[in-house]
Amino acid sequence: MTGPSTPQPPLTAIPADLQSLADYEQRAEKHMPPDTWRHIQAGAGAETSLAANRAQFDRRHLVPQMLTDMRDGTTEVELFGQRHAAPILLAPVAYHRLAHPQGELATIRAATALDTTMVVSTLSSIPLEEIAGAARAAAAELARAAPPPLWFQLYFQPDRDYTAELVQRAEAAGYQVLVFTVDAAIKRSDFTLPPDVDAANLRRMPRLSQSASLAGGKIVFGTPLLDTAPTWESLAWLRSATKLPIVVKGLLSAQDARLAAEHGADGIIVSNHGGRVLDGLVPPLDALPAMVEAVDDSIPLLLDSGVRHGTDVLKALALGARAVLVGRPQIHALAVAGMAGVAHMLHILRAEFELAMAQTGCISPEAIQRHLLAGNIAESGHNPARS
Ligand code: FNR
Repeated sequence: MTGPSTPQPPLTAIPADLQSLADYEQRAEKHMPPDTWRHIQAGAGAETSLAANRAQFDRRHLVPQMLTDMRDGTTEVELFGQRHAAPILLAPVAYHRLAHPQGELATIRAATALDTTMVVSTLSSIPLEEIAGAARAAAAELARAAPPPLWFQLYFQPDRDYTAELVQRAEAAGYQVLVFTVDAAIKRSDFTLPPDVDAANLRRMPRLSQSASLAGGKIVFGTPLLDTAPTWESLAWLRSATKLPIVVKGLLSAQDARLAAEHGADGIIVSNHGGRVLDGLVPPLDALPAMVEAVDDSIPLLLDSGVRHGTDVLKALALGARAVLVGRPQIHALAVAGMAGVAHMLHILRAEFELAMAQTGCISPEAIQRHLLAGNIAESGHNPARS
């Protein structure tokens, strides 16, 4: 007997009615305990940023260029000297074992099969070394020379030595890019992990409280929370601590984009953390054009928060993003059907993107430019010189 709050086990075959990321999202709720489902889905506050993250894509419209010769078409892009099959990556998401017993191991196998980079979170529920090992094993099984580039997402730890240790472990395990997330050191969360899920990379490290309290006493200022909240100095330190490319995740302003480049960042992920940290933040797509202009193409800008359709990828690239990342959809797919679900979800998104490129006359990701968006003059309204 399964009651309403008993999650269904993951499917072993993909039913024909799962045809979009929205289908996976709708189905996923049945496969997760209610409090886990709410934790995954939730946005901060009144969830206006969460809603805006979708609306930012829906209110923009594409203008196709017909009769283009598509015979040399490709979805491939290069980031930090490495080839990616498409400008779509899996965003760092904590604790995949909340969604499936195999957790990140299922996700990385699916990502490897679909030639897609997964950004492994500091808060992964499987050790980062095992995830990298699973990527290499999956690539070998598929008779590929190597898995797609491995990226590791870094949260600063209370003790800098521990942060340095995480960086060294990621380097030693073969991760090729570091994503430094800067927008979530101060946030609220009431979610308690189930006993069988933990932060596998941090087992020997002192516990870090990432949550501000709105109950009595000190809220944020004067609390240990601020000991780990990174500053620009942290980025300068990280730059000196690793030779890997550093991508700063969670910036939303032109000034911060410029500062990040000045502090040695090799790339930026324009993101409001999927609307999870502070309600009312600008949706990334609205912030993007001014940020692209601020860095003057010196470093690539990627974008996440709300990407759910192939046409969303097109819209983000048209406004200057080099690639996008998807967060929650990987958890939905993992809960519904494990590795097969994530592989299928990625295939859907990739196929939608390629189809939309072909239907709008874009022969390559570089060909996706502002002209593809209706009313693109209004988009550059921030900059009178352009309009
Ligand atoms: C996240 N995100 C996140 N980001 C990060 O840098 N490190 C992390 O550990 C996590 N963990 C995490 C858990 C959960 C449950 C969610 C939903 C998100 C943020 C993530 O990388 C990404 O920015 C957003 O998920 C993008 O928005 P969408 O695609 O979920 O709308």
